[in-house]
Amino acid sequence: MLGRINHIALAVPDIAAASATYRETLGAKVSAPQALPEHGVTVVFVELPNSKVELLEPLGETSPVAAFLAKNPDGGMHHICYEVADILAARDQLVAAGARVLGDGEPKIGAHGKQVLFLHPKDFFGTLIELEQV
Ligand code: CO
Repeated sequence: MLGRINHIALAVPDIAAASATYRETLGAKVSAPQALPEHGVTVVFVELPNSKVELLEPLGETSPVAAFLAKNPDGGMHHICYEVADILAARDQLVAAGARVLGDGEPKIGAHGKQVLFLHPKDFFGTLIELEQV
């Protein structure tokens, strides 16, 4: 079911400061910030030779990342995103196996304009999983 790692996401308290650290201290190529109100986050992508790191800052009052940062004020690893060829087939197979899909269970459009779903971290060893159809 799983393809390559599309990105690893880090929640950060200040996306401008985190972008500057990745760009200047770590010497990485960093995208411009992109607001995703439907997901309650502003995102930046750090381009790496083999994958990407997604920096997430809360956007809006009900951002799911705000609660994460309340528990992890310095920031931390928030989720890992795996690519799948068919997100609905993957979802149906996972639900049949007892995994929980977050939200209403229907894919949303993610930062790359592609369909994404999130899987409950308690079903996957404490790590929030994002699936992205490629
Ligand atoms: Co993501």
